[in-house]
Amino acid sequence: MTIAVCPGSFDPITLGHVDVVRRARSMFDEVVVGVATNSSKSALLGVEARVALARAAFEGIDGVRVEPVDGLLAEFVRAVRANAVVKGLRGGADFDAELPMALMNRHLAGVETVFVVGDPALAHIASSLVKDVARYGGAIDDLVPPGVGDAVRAAVGREDRT
Ligand code: PNS
Repeated sequence: MTIAVCPGSFDPITLGHVDVVRRARSMFDEVVVGVATNSSKSALLGVEARVALARAAFEGIDGVRVEPVDGLLAEFVRAVRANAVVKGLRGGADFDAELPMALMNRHLAGVETVFVVGDPALAHIASSLVKDVARYGGAIDDLVPPGVGDAVRAAVGREDRT
């Protein structure tokens, strides 16, 4: 039984994330989607909302489950007995950001990181851009799984009132 962890902030989950998780599932028996905190980013959605939206996106997909990562990813990887971390690359900037994390996770947990190249048709989709488009009233429903657009618009609306 091979297990991969697909970690991320998922703030919010996008069609790009879904593509990467599906590709990971084609290589591993089980994929655990780890919804974590990136301390260099300020999240729009709380972790419970991010987990709920991700669970809805993968509902009915065999061999994929979604769990919150409460603390270090390296410890989560050990706890779920994962064989590898899988992350998606859209381009060189992603690699530059991911390489130090992959090296640190190997240092901490001895875990290898496997990079998968996502669908180029989805390469323009980033959670940060989805939020930015939503903040300015643009259309985001074709960038995210069903239900995510409503949650993002509601959160952006609350953000506007503060
Ligand atoms: O989607 P992101 O923001 O690129 O994902 C980054 C994330 C959340 C996977 C990373 O920040 C992370 O692993 N956070 C959990 C805390 C941790 O382990 N930090 C050290 C990373 S080497």
